[in-house]
Amino acid sequence: MSQKTVVIIGASGAIGKALVNLNLRLNNQVVTVSRETLSISHPLLKKYQSDYSQKSISEVASLISRVYPMLSTITVCNGALHTQTNMPEKRIEAFDIDYFSTLLHINTMTPFMWLQAFTPHLLSTQTPCVFTALSARIGSISDNQLGGWYSYRASKASLNMLFKTASIELQRRKCNAKLMLFHPGTTDSELSKPFQNNVPEGKLFKPEFVAQQLHSFQLNRDFNGAIDYIDWQGHNIQW
Ligand SMILES: NC(=O)c1ccc[n+]([C@@H]2O[C@H](COP(=O)([O-])OP(=O)(O)OC[C@H]3O[C@@H](n4cnc5c(N)ncnc54)[C@H](OP(=O)(O)O)[C@@H]3O)[C@@H](O)[C@H]2O)c1
Repeated sequence: MSQKTVVIIGASGAIGKALVNLNLRLNNQVVTVSRETLSISHPLLKKYQSDYSQKSISEVASLISRVYPMLSTITVCNGALHTQTNMPEKRIEAFDIDYFSTLLHINTMTPFMWLQAFTPHLLSTQTPCVFTALSARIGSISDNQLGGWYSYRASKASLNMLFKTASIELQRRKCNAKLMLFHPGTTDSELSKPFQNNVPEGKLFKPEFVAQQLHSFQLNRDFNGAIDYIDWQGHNIQW
């Protein structure tokens, strides 16, 4: 198989790291972005740092697009569920504006700023590119039977709406990129750690499994202009 160039943003997280390792094993050129300095080094790995300000995102995305004009996939793995001060809300009374703003920034605005920054690339490149943001089933409005987790739920629902809206515009502008929103299922990471006790046997996935699933779906996307909102099995999620 020919070598591909993949961009992995939020590469220090569990799923991000697993995607990096998988792509290096497949001999792909891997370009990472993180707030952190990644300790891993490899001849096929190019690392960028970003503080995820709009300025930094714009600069890093233009640099990557210039240096690597043939990108096959761009995957944004950023996301947060709990902070040092707040856990997901069980009751309306727990809603906290600072916690909500933080989650909106990390889960919604950051992935969308990356899409914004790569849009000139996606519109001009001849290489079909799959742009994926890690979302969650909890962001589905029609699937919401349980309630709770107001800020996380709403930040993922907003992410979904921004990407769905962008897909309509990009199709109108004859862009041949594919947008995808991916629900990894409950995966062993810092993000899910406080909630792992409630996960049924066999339903807590290893990041390596999730990365493999995501990678196979990215390889087999239909470049039909429509956005895909899918889970770890490749099944469509209702919006
Ligand atoms: N794990 C699950 O069970 C689960 C379930 C459903 C959906 N998801 C989604 O999957 C994605 C990846 O999660 P994970 O399980 O791999 O979590 P993780 O190991 O905790 O990784 C968190 C990621 O978010 C980024 N991040 C953390 N704090 C940030 C901040 N303040 N500003 C900007 N970026 C920040 C990190 O990027 P840096 O490399 O820049 O530090 C890292 O990539 C998230 O979008 C999450 O919502 C996870």
